[in-house]
Amino acid sequence: MMTPAGVQELVPEDRIRSRVAELARQIDEDYADAGEILLLGVLRGAFIFVADLSRALSIDRRVDFIALSSYERDARRGGVRLIMDSRVPIEGKHILLVEDILDTGRTLEYLLDAFAARKPASIRSCVLVRKPTQETQVTPDYVGFDISDEWVVGYGLDFDDRFRALPYIGTLDPDAID
Ligand code: XMP
Ligand code: MG
Repeated sequence: MMTPAGVQELVPEDRIRSRVAELARQIDEDYADAGEILLLGVLRGAFIFVADLSRALSIDRRVDFIALSSYERDARRGGVRLIMDSRVPIEGKHILLVEDILDTGRTLEYLLDAFAARKPASIRSCVLVRKPTQETQVTPDYVGFDISDEWVVGYGLDFDDRFRALPYIGTLDPDAID
């Protein structure tokens, strides 16, 4: 497949596939006695990751999504707000938050606080990629890939809503896109 102008492949499709399978095996093991988990995907960036991860799991799982106000490139200034809530009640459930990317960590910190307050049986988090730019103390329980501090797109990740459907994760040079 042609790589769009400005995008350079960073994590190829087959590496994503095998890493998702590894994460799923780990999650299967960790939750073997949990009964059922609720995967809570954060729209829109995590939609493809959730689709693949949920299908790679063997344990009983439900899938739901939440959405946050997206300041996108201003996200580092904080100010996260839930604009679409889960439909499945959280209380008593084993919650696994699934995020596309950990940057400063503010989004995940906010979500862990907000959902822990609803008395889940447990709450953990899983991020597809992590940048080395954290400004918070949150530690995701599952991390797909550690990357350097570059803007990444593909496999759900976007730049102005573009490039989400690329099957791989790539770095983006915004000055070089069409
Ligand atoms: P924080 O700083 O709260 O940021 O951890 C998490 C949110 O910032 C967005 N983000 C990105 N989105 N490519 C993206 O497509 C990136 O390289 C990137 N870096 C941060 C993203 O919305 C994430 O949920
Ligand atoms: Mg985004």
